[in-house]
Amino acid sequence: MEKIIALCKRRGFIYSSSEIYGGIGGFWDYGPLGVELKNNIKKEWWKTMVYQRDDVVGVDAAIIMNPKVWEASGHVAAFTDPLVECKNCHHRFRADKIKDDICENCGDKNNFTEPKQFNLLTEVFLGVTEPKQKAYLRGEITQGVFVNFKNIVNSTRIKIPFGIAQIGKAFRNEITPGNFTYRSREFEQMELEFFIKPDEKEAIKWFEYWKQERIKWYQSLGIKKNNLRWREHESFERAHYARRAFDIEYHAPFGWSEFEGIHHRGDWDLTRHGLRYKDPETTEEYTPWVIETSGGVDRSLLFFLIDAYCEEKERVVLKLHPKLAPVKVAVFPLLSNRKELVSLAWKIYLSLKSENLMVVWDDRGNIGKRYYAQDEIGTPFCVTIDFKTLEDNTVTIRDRDTTKQVRLLIENLKSFLKEKLV
Ligand code: GAP
Repeated sequence: MEKIIALCKRRGFIYSSSEIYGGIGGFWDYGPLGVELKNNIKKEWWKTMVYQRDDVVGVDAAIIMNPKVWEASGHVAAFTDPLVECKNCHHRFRADKIKDDICENCGDKNNFTEPKQFNLLTEVFLGVTEPKQKAYLRGEITQGVFVNFKNIVNSTRIKIPFGIAQIGKAFRNEITPGNFTYRSREFEQMELEFFIKPDEKEAIKWFEYWKQERIKWYQSLGIKKNNLRWREHESFERAHYARRAFDIEYHAPFGWSEFEGIHHRGDWDLTRHGLRYKDPETTEEYTPWVIETSGGVDRSLLFFLIDAYCEEKERVVLKLHPKLAPVKVAVFPLLSNRKELVSLAWKIYLSLKSENLMVVWDDRGNIGKRYYAQDEIGTPFCVTIDFKTLEDNTVTIRDRDTTKQVRLLIENLKSFLKEKLV
C-alpha cells in the first residue's frame, strides 16, 4: 500500500484533500492522472450498464434532497455503525472492526466502552436566516433514483423489468476512514436499481443474473480472477433495506475487502416512499421489487491500481487495461535537439490529439527514462520518431506489457491505436 500511495502522489493520481492545511481525514483529491482513470472507469461502467442495454436508463439526481426522503428510507433511524471507545487512550473504533478485543492505538485489552450507535448521515444547514433548515448530504445515491421512479416511468417508455443507473457522490460520516481511499467520507458510487415484479422466482433469477454481470465486468477490465470472491452477508450485518446481500470482495493488501454489493431490496424503498407501478398493458398494479448493484468508483480505482501494479526487474509497470489507462499514447522525438525529428513528432502528436485520445509529449532525457516514466503510469503505447522515420515514414510503437517494438507507417498509426484502445 505504501508503494501505491507514494506512486499516486508522485505521479498525480491522488493527493490528500487540502494538504497544504494538513489535510482532512477521509477526503481525497484526484490529480491529472487520477481524474482520467476515474472518468474512464465511469465511462466503461455507463457503457456496459446503459448504452449496451435496452432495459436501463440513466438519472443524475441532486445530492441534497428533502430530509423527509431520509426519514422515509429508514436512514435517519437505522443508517448507523456501532462505535466503542478505548477507556485508556479514548480512541474510538467501529465495534465490528476490533480484532481480539485489543485497542489498535495503545494495545490495551478488553478495555472498551459498550458499543453506541452512530448515524452516518452528514448534516448540512440550508438558508441564511435562523433557524436554518437541516438537510443531509446523501448517504447513498440510491434514494435519488427511487424518488424519481414515477417521473421516469411517466416520461419514458420503459417497462418492468427495467433499471435506472446513476453515478454520483455520496457522503458518510465514517468513524474510521482509512486504508487510503478505501473508506472515505466523500466518495462516488455507481449504482443500478433494477425493478422487477414482486415474485420470488423473478428475484432469484435477476439476483443471480446481476451477480454474474458485475463480476464479469471487473474481470473484463483486467482484475485477476483469483483476487475476486463472493461473500454473502449474514442477517445481522445486512443493511436495514436488504433481504439478501452479496459482496464482491477484492484481495487487497489489507485483506479481503468489499468492492461492490449486490442487494435484494425487495419493496422496502418504494413502499416507504408510497410508490407503485401500473403495468401499461395489463393495468395490473403492484409495488415492484428492486435488485441493486452498488459499486464504488474510488474503491474500483484503488483496486484497479493495486491489481495492475507490477514490479519487474528494471521497471515498475501499471498493467492497466488500455480502456482504463489514463494516458493512451506517449509521443517521443528520439532527440530533442534535432529540429526535423521534433517538428515531425509534434505533427504526429497533434494529429493523435485531434482524435480525442489522451496523448502526452515527452522529449526529456533518454528514451529508456521516458519509457520508464510511461510504464509507471500504465501508458499502453509509446511512439518514437527517429531518423528512419525521416527516410521511410515509419515510427516505432512500443507495447507496454511486452516492451516489444514494431515499425508502423505513420498513416496506419491511428487505425492501429483505435483497434487496440476502443
Ligand atoms: N445503495 C447501497 C449502498 O450504498 P453500500 O454497501 O453501503 O450499499 C456500496 O455501498 C458501495 O459503495 C460499496 O461496495 C463501496 O464500493 C462504496 N462505498 C461505501 N462506503 C464507502 C466509503 N466510506 N468509502 C468509499 N467507498 C464506499
